[in-house]
Amino acid sequence: MSQSRKKPKKSIATREETEVGLLGAILTKYAGAAGAVIPILQESQEALGCLRPQTIETLALGMGVPASQIYGVVTFYSQFRLMPIGKHLCKVCHGTACHVSGATEVGEAILDQLRVDEGGTTADGRFTVQSVACLGCCSLAPVMMIDEETHGRLTPDRARKLLREV
Ligand code: FES
Repeated sequence: MSQSRKKPKKSIATREETEVGLLGAILTKYAGAAGAVIPILQESQEALGCLRPQTIETLALGMGVPASQIYGVVTFYSQFRLMPIGKHLCKVCHGTACHVSGATEVGEAILDQLRVDEGGTTADGRFTVQSVACLGCCSLAPVMMIDEETHGRLTPDRARKLLREV
């Protein structure tokens, strides 16, 4: 007599359950800590890639503050993202030193090369392009960062070449 064995059901958490679990752990870590909004948002973004509306709602609920307050912080600091970014993040500096050294032309060349709008992500998800105010190395102007690497004294041609090599 053969017995059919049933496979044990796997417990598969939905993405939402996983996210709530992650955020709960972060909120617990900072429970009662004053001024913890920034580190909570940083860790949440690190864990999830960006701060989607649902994430902000969950965090606001957990912190006992209105979601509008969290949005205020997220939209004030450029380090926070409301949308997922591409595989590579290209930050193009448009601060004063870079602006007077040709950042506008460099920025246009980058957007043109990648066929993307400012702040957008390429259709293949490889690049997100962001404008930033200063990357802190003005003597190298004009400057961009691709991921963690800084590239200075750019020309439109050099910027295009660097992107092709990523
Ligand atoms: S203005 Fe571009 S690095 Fe400072």
